[in-house]
Amino acid sequence: MKTVDFINMADGTAEEYAFLHNQESLYMEGLSDRLLKSLEDLGSSFSGYKVSRLEHSLQSATRAFEAGESEEMVIAALFHDIGDVLAPASHSEMAAAILRPYVSERIYWIIRHHGLFQMYYYGHHFGDDRNARDIHKDHQWYQDTIDFCEKYDQNCFDPDFESKPLDFFRPMVERVFSEPKFATI
Ligand SMILES: [Fe+2]
Repeated sequence: MKTVDFINMADGTAEEYAFLHNQESLYMEGLSDRLLKSLEDLGSSFSGYKVSRLEHSLQSATRAFEAGESEEMVIAALFHDIGDVLAPASHSEMAAAILRPYVSERIYWIIRHHGLFQMYYYGHHFGDDRNARDIHKDHQWYQDTIDFCEKYDQNCFDPDFESKPLDFFRPMVERVFSEPKFATI
């Protein structure tokens, strides 16, 4: 079978769906490559900082790695701004959605909310509430998210920092994204 016969999903057979499931599994094998390619695209996103968004991401992951964080956290740091290209108004949500099946609930929560917490460093310059993160002050991962932003985000714009190259993280990316713990569809 090269393609299914149906043009409406309602008409598909079990054999056709088994075929499609196999096709999807084969495509999933290329996920790490596609994710790494998307990271490379951050190298040419908006400018103005002293470093590109790709370099910022590499600094974030390098700092997490050198601090002895788990592999999941290192990779979450690497991808925390992956939403900048296609979801500039909801970039935390996009990054968190990509990571969600592959990381712990805690890491998912940190990445999902890092944009709000990061506002602490600049929100007041736009007349916004820099403490808007405090709506989560009773949450179990409130302090963890503050720590993430302080150690692996707001300080990662240094052109003199020696980041590890993207290829250094490739085996970790392949391991973390090798098998989803669950699918949210
Ligand atoms: Fe960031």
